[in-house]
Amino acid sequence: MRISVIGCGYLGAVHAAAMASIGHEVVGVDIDERKIAELAAGRAPFFEPDLQQILEDGIGSGRLSFTTDIAAVRGAAVHFIGVGTPQQEGGYAADLTYVDAAVDALIPHLRPGDIVAGKSTVPVGTAARLADGIERAGATLVWNPEFLREGWAVQDTIDPDRLVAGVPAGASGEHAAEVLREVYHTAVAKKTPFIVTDYATAELVKVAANAFLATKISFINAMAEIAEVTGADVTQLADAIGHDVRIGRRFLGAGIGFGGGCLPKDIRAFSARAEELGRGESVSFLREVDAINMRRRDRAVELVVAALGGSVFGRRVAVLGAAFKPHSDDVRDSPALDVAVRLKGLGCDVVVTDPAAVPNAARIHPQLTYADDLDDALRGADAVIVVTEWDEYRRHLTPEHAASLVAGRIVVDGRNCLDAAAWRESGWSYHGMGRP
Ligand code: UGA
Repeated sequence: MRISVIGCGYLGAVHAAAMASIGHEVVGVDIDERKIAELAAGRAPFFEPDLQQILEDGIGSGRLSFTTDIAAVRGAAVHFIGVGTPQQEGGYAADLTYVDAAVDALIPHLRPGDIVAGKSTVPVGTAARLADGIERAGATLVWNPEFLREGWAVQDTIDPDRLVAGVPAGASGEHAAEVLREVYHTAVAKKTPFIVTDYATAELVKVAANAFLATKISFINAMAEIAEVTGADVTQLADAIGHDVRIGRRFLGAGIGFGGGCLPKDIRAFSARAEELGRGESVSFLREVDAINMRRRDRAVELVVAALGGSVFGRRVAVLGAAFKPHSDDVRDSPALDVAVRLKGLGCDVVVTDPAAVPNAARIHPQLTYADDLDDALRGADAVIVVTEWDEYRRHLTPEHAASLVAGRIVVDGRNCLDAAAWRESGWSYHGMGRP
């Protein structure tokens, strides 16, 4: 099938390459010339496992191309919209400028019978608003939210847990759902659940899923706060409640909390949209979810300050991690980087390292000192804080090796990812989040 993908960021670039990898002929379009030049040359513009390979394969096969020329979408049967919906400047609502611009740019190139598939995360009601202009061009809009996780984006796109298609009522909607089934033929063949809904439900599925995940993380972080004043261990607590299959252990990782380009802005946009709909109170708990999450960053800083005797001024601290999570070079709303910035603000001599995210971190926070090499970051440090649970820190870094480099054996485990007993046995003063 001929497919176009408008917007070639984390979502669109992966989607374009993944669709080519399952046999479609795909053109990716973006207004960012630098990004398009990289993609067209077969180079992934960001770190995402497997993306480089499927990009190279797609371009090599002749089925995948990238351009800044929107007219190149002509002739495609399905047009995916994968542009960003960031948080508005000075507000909580989503900024729909890019979605609106993408649809406006696309409409003149649509042919009757085309399908436009919205993948961006949007406030409920957006698809119904956009559908009119698309229908006037004889095309049909389907809302097809994306659930990919950074770091697993290629796998999640090709082999998702479920597919959701929000369609208009009637024959055009049924046809659009059929076309999407053909697009995702490999997942459909594996009997992946394919849920056909109306627009509002499809839009809500996406924000509800992210709101649930954020709530789950903040729930366990709230338990960490209680554990901290009672001497309980939140990790054991999570293990114990996680054995209940109704609860489940995943996303019960207490620590410095969630960040990234999705969960924080999506729960805020959801609150803002619910307010507009006169149902703000229905999701007022999301404000608490956000507040708990932000408090964990304060707590991590407090732990470092306390461990260093009440002040970090002039003390050297190695910050292990900058990405908002491992297997990613994304530093958007990264709790890891925020902790580094807060420590620096207290006069701390911070050295930040990360296996993938140092260039991105340095771009937005040039005031911090960075080390590409873990040993360089550790050398002479008075304390170490782990803020992104990369395998490099969690598995490969031994307390003995770290001890041979640092000036002081103090470690704050902002992700509860280290073997506390092993670090203590090596003479370290170990401080976890919500752990005695
Ligand atoms: C999230 C969702 O998981 C995806 O399903 C969704 O498609 C995506 O947002 C999106 O809307 O595009 P992502 O932002 O890539 O994906 O990252 P997650 O794996 O969800 O992690 C989010 C944050 O939560 C990270 O900072 C991570 O460190 C933190 N986290 C996760 C915890 O603090 N504890 C946990 O137990 C799990």
